[in-house]
Amino acid sequence: MAEIAIRNVTKTYGKTTIMQGVNLTIHNGEFVVILGPSGCGKSTLLRLIAGLEEITAGEIAIAGQVVNDLEPRERGCAMVFQNYALYPHMTVAENVGYALKVAGVPKAERMARVAETAKSVGLADFLDRKPGQLSGGQRQRVAMARAIIREPKVFLFDEPLSNLDAKLRVQMRHEIRRIHNQIKATSVFVTHDQHEGMTLADRLVVMNKGTIEQVGTPAEIYDRPASLYVAGFIGSPAMNFLPGQYSAARRAVVLEGGAVIGLPGDPGASDGQFVQLGIRPEHVALRAPGHGMIDARLEIVEDLGASRLWNLRIEDIPFSLITEARAHPPVGATTGLVLDLRHAHLFDGATGKRMETTLGALRAVPAQ
Ligand SMILES: Nc1ncnc2c1ncn2[C@@H]1O[C@H](COP(=O)(O)OP(=O)(O)OP(=O)(O)O)[C@@H](O)[C@H]1O
Ligand SMILES: [Mg+2]
Repeated sequence: MAEIAIRNVTKTYGKTTIMQGVNLTIHNGEFVVILGPSGCGKSTLLRLIAGLEEITAGEIAIAGQVVNDLEPRERGCAMVFQNYALYPHMTVAENVGYALKVAGVPKAERMARVAETAKSVGLADFLDRKPGQLSGGQRQRVAMARAIIREPKVFLFDEPLSNLDAKLRVQMRHEIRRIHNQIKATSVFVTHDQHEGMTLADRLVVMNKGTIEQVGTPAEIYDRPASLYVAGFIGSPAMNFLPGQYSAARRAVVLEGGAVIGLPGDPGASDGQFVQLGIRPEHVALRAPGHGMIDARLEIVEDLGASRLWNLRIEDIPFSLITEARAHPPVGATTGLVLDLRHAHLFDGATGKRMETTLGALRAVPAQ
């Protein structure tokens, strides 16, 4: 088990900087998920930890030892990839036991450890099969077993589930978390799937264009996103944003089309400041037209099974809400909305950063 310390790490390819001043400490035994859109540098960060890429500037330490100059095999990391990279001509048992064979572990001990590891990932009945005779999920288990058997200090996962169908993904993600709870090795798991991130992580790291936007528990990140970027990225369906200007005299956000959303407390914004009021679809309630805080026009209703997602427009701004109601007015009709401002988020319109003082003020006052 080992702590990973990433200190001021920068990575450039030629003149292109793809990672800039990244700082992150991953605690001993922790399961950290790196989340972000394609191209933001998730795999690069993993590869830098594993030693598959060289750091341009900064330092990485594993278990207190700076590993900048260590070879990948000296770092004690096991990596599990999206394409399992199994040896096709070897059986499951041979694939799982390969690292031990290379390390010169005697056959009897090797067989015993292979059997034990295979059992822990539910592969006991497949030891004699070749990878070509396995399903995608079973192959993924072989890749996991192959990593586990090395008893690494650190597990690095690069989108290991993205080749699996939706149902199997959920099953394997439970499996990975169960195995982690058992062996408690420090784990870094990369994905662009927020559900995977939210459900697996002790802490989430949200990346944006080679930098870290926010680090926190899934609940912290969901409840208090540090920026518009994080707020828009985490949560499905996504948070609504209403751009406007703060009016101190009215203690309200005045939307571009003139609609006024009165705030229940002082948000600490300056008069005339451009802001974005964020509200999640689950924090909006329906009223008769003219009887809410604001009116919206219904564009399309999507049935999600347990609930319905209404896609609306407020003036020209897209806005959505979730309701359990099955009935809905005809498309094009106007409906009133009440925003539960206890759950509102206010962001600086210029910087996109969360206005920290704001939320406390808004939350301190009960909704009207
Ligand atoms: N060898 C390389 N030379 C130049 N640029 C590279 C190289 N490897 C990666 N990059 C660039 O670095 C950026 C980050 O790549 P990376 O693979 O880390 O992204 P990612 O977040 O893992 O994306 P994805 O979700 O698509 O896997 C990308 O813009 C990519 O084009
Ligand atoms: Mg990647």
